[in-house]
Amino acid sequence: MSILPILEVPDARLKTVSVPVKEFDAELKTLIEDMTDTMYDAHGIGLAAIQVGVPKRILVIDLQEAPEGEEAEKNPRVFINPEILDPSEELAGYKEGCLSVPEQYADVERPATIRARWQDIDGKTHEENMDGLMATCLQHEMDHLEGILFIDHLSRLKRQMVLKKLNKMRKERGVAA
Ligand code: NI
Repeated sequence: MSILPILEVPDARLKTVSVPVKEFDAELKTLIEDMTDTMYDAHGIGLAAIQVGVPKRILVIDLQEAPEGEEAEKNPRVFINPEILDPSEELAGYKEGCLSVPEQYADVERPATIRARWQDIDGKTHEENMDGLMATCLQHEMDHLEGILFIDHLSRLKRQMVLKKLNKMRKERGVAA
């Protein structure tokens, strides 16, 4: 198990378009284990491989939803080479955040329901209808595969405000921007 460093804005590698996974081998399994450990360590609910510097179409997601006052059981889901089919015209708004834009949040609207198709760790294809936070999270993580961050969905003014707040936080904490 390894915790990998997470790339943060303005790291140019986050703008990479990731390439499809073709080999479902032991190396892939190790990467996915490390991504999952890294996501939990950072208290995130999703992570794309490019966020740890690997430009491959791999996501891990665990919404970690639990009843009030209970701790969520770990149930990581892996999405390899994901695609979105039939996005709804209806939109849903969520206050999104991202481990690559630490501790900043903003409302983003996306299709409320989608049908997703992806491959699992053994290369087997799956399809599922998704809504709610799962639909939002998958679409957010899939954006990373195209080099897009949630702040890219905001107006220029809002995006600049978020980045300003992030830099202020980094300065206060003595972290180099
Ligand atoms: Ni993100």
